Amino acid sequence: MNSEVAEKFGGGTIEHASLLVVGGTVLTPNGAERIDLACQGGRIVALGALKGHWTADTTIDATGLHVLPGVIDSQVHFREPGLTHKEDLEAGTRGAVLGGVTGVFEMPNTNPLTLWQADLQAKLDAAKGRAWCDYAFYIGGSGVNAEQLQSLESLPGCAGVKVFMGSSFGDLLADDDTVLRQIVRHGCRRMSVHAEDEGRLKERRSIVEASGDVCQHPEWRDVDSALLATQRIVTMAEDTGRRLHVLHVSTAEEMQYLARHKRCVTVEVTPHHLTMAAPECYQRLGSLAQMNPPVREQRHQDALWEAIRKGVVDVIGSDHAPHTLTEKAKPYPQSPSGMTGVQTLLPVMLDHVHAGRLSLQRLVDLTSAGPARIFGIEGKGRIALGYDADLTLVDLAARRTITNDWIASRSSWTPYDGKVVTGWPVHTVVRGQVVVRDEALVGAPEGQAIRFLETPDTKNVTV
Ligand code: DOR
Repeated sequence: MNSEVAEKFGGGTIEHASLLVVGGTVLTPNGAERIDLACQGGRIVALGALKGHWTADTTIDATGLHVLPGVIDSQVHFREPGLTHKEDLEAGTRGAVLGGVTGVFEMPNTNPLTLWQADLQAKLDAAKGRAWCDYAFYIGGSGVNAEQLQSLESLPGCAGVKVFMGSSFGDLLADDDTVLRQIVRHGCRRMSVHAEDEGRLKERRSIVEASGDVCQHPEWRDVDSALLATQRIVTMAEDTGRRLHVLHVSTAEEMQYLARHKRCVTVEVTPHHLTMAAPECYQRLGSLAQMNPPVREQRHQDALWEAIRKGVVDVIGSDHAPHTLTEKAKPYPQSPSGMTGVQTLLPVMLDHVHAGRLSLQRLVDLTSAGPARIFGIEGKGRIALGYDADLTLVDLAARRTITNDWIASRSSWTPYDGKVVTGWPVHTVVRGQVVVRDEALVGAPEGQAIRFLETPDTKNVTV
């Protein structure tokens, strides 16, 4: 099919596609445009005034809606294998598409951990025919597999290497400088890091052991626990030129530091660090607000927003980390850190757009173009000819209340229960397949492994 011809329609021919999206305001790299889209074979094949020139198997009337490039959430924990009472790949990805998310990067702190090719293959096999959105899986970086990370990170379906410098949930930990340097040296893809200083966390745990007061969570896992670890790993990356991604940055001090170290470093923030503040969140939610790194006082939240405005932040990731309400009800600090977030990432951030804290275009940059750019994703991240037809259609004027009932996660709760927001995902399209229509699940789970521009090594792996 010649898209120029299709686009120009000089010939007056009627073209046919599998999906047409008409009448919406489309966020393209050129900005917001009132154009239509045609999708065929999973890709965008035409953009423009298509009405009357195209027919389709399925047509979505997007009048009054904004059509965004599919949201990519590059930090989720879907707990499979081994912790599926909390979450699994089917429920996790179903929550994703109901929340307008079309692609996810899933974390390695499952049981068993994702350390080897066989672990990655097991996740790829488990996702096939059960995932509602597209997916990739991180390989955990540790002393046991450091030497093999260069080959492991280039396996198809791999999102790169993830390192935990501080204990959070699960046994994956690399806190020793020798091991960290080994991990940094063995690989060339952007590596992602949970930066909290293990030694300092150990030293300070007695504070909360004594009080059992969750309001002290940010005091235990304090600013220096995050800053010291961030400075350590950024220095190692700069020494070797290794590209680094610092996950869920939560402090003003780290943002000031990172603003001066952006040469090989990219930065993620989460909706909960942008939306909640201590001590109010702990007084209201108790351990349901308990995350690692912690939600902190208002001055930190303000600094994160400043960093978004200044371009220090590259992506927003949810850190979807479900634990059951029974587990969360354990006395603090035995209660696990983590909350659901993949389904609420977009509604919560659209509400911030509505409040004027960031533009819709900036949100698209942080949730689609940004992840594609920094992780080298092939064919995703923008609405353009030839790109995957991953589309998130939102109603910017819709007012909705987020409730636990809406949450698809096997843990079935959200810290935003009862929150009224403006802006809501209405339709979700994954590679041309409509999987959510009028806020309801349709179709079938046909997610595929996300392709990367730089993973040539296709030996012995079926995706
Ligand atoms: O709060 C958290 N929970 N932070 C993490 O880094 C891990 C996550 C989990 O897996 O539960």
